Amino acid sequence: MSGAVPEAKRVTARDFARKKAAGERIVVVAAYDALFARLSEEGGVDAVLVGDSLGNVIAGHDSTLPVTLEQMIYHGAAARRGLRRAMLIVDMPFLSYQTGSDDAVRNCGRVVQETGAQALKLEGAGPRVEGAIRAVVELGVPVMGHLGFTPQSVHTLGTRVQGREPAAADALVDAARRLEDAGVFSIVLELVPAALAERVREAVAVPTIGIGAGASCDGQVLVLHDLLGFTEGFSPRFLKRYASLADQTRDAVRRFADEVRDGTFPAAEHSF
Ligand code: KIV
Repeated sequence: MSGAVPEAKRVTARDFARKKAAGERIVVVAAYDALFARLSEEGGVDAVLVGDSLGNVIAGHDSTLPVTLEQMIYHGAAARRGLRRAMLIVDMPFLSYQTGSDDAVRNCGRVVQETGAQALKLEGAGPRVEGAIRAVVELGVPVMGHLGFTPQSVHTLGTRVQGREPAAADALVDAARRLEDAGVFSIVLELVPAALAERVREAVAVPTIGIGAGASCDGQVLVLHDLLGFTEGFSPRFLKRYASLADQTRDAVRRFADEVRDGTFPAAEHSF
């Protein structure tokens, strides 16, 4: 079958399972557009997650709650245009799947149809979310779960490490088992103690993808803008910055502004 862009062999949900079985760590970044998705793929990631963290990172909100389905579709479709090989996973935003299985099927179906995503991520557990996951998986769409700190519940959970108390830790392990039973192909574990992430990994067969969940997870995810050093005010313990692009951006813009003001730019070679 031919598409607009020639496809390389695409990473699929089955590859996640295969990598886990082979002991290969899975690498995911959250990115939100064609440019950064393409650069991430060229950097060798297995999957790009268009996370609803875009609400914080690029839209300037203080939570993910205002992010809409239309915005996720816009960014998902943009990221898809940058990818040939890496799997595209799109986050389902607040209220797009919690209001009933029919809504979940309709909204998830739209996201797959309008973005070209190969998988979707739904946050949390409990009867509503598990029902939605079952319905979407039944539709034939791979679903990634997300436990621990789930940003759409920020007003109940706060932004702290989850599952420190024994009862909460047991509840998280149970929730992971239920998500697996509902059909997820992998589970993001965000902000959970490393020992608990290890318990979850032992309790379920599907790969666990950690963010602030220690080294035992089957893979890791970071927000691209965080690892590139764009989000300077955000310094959680789990974040490692691999570049300082906020500094470099300011510096480049300052030099451009200086050269415009002193008449150095544009020079003859930039003119027609
Ligand atoms: O929205 C997001 O970017 C995420 C990842 C941090 C896992 O959910």
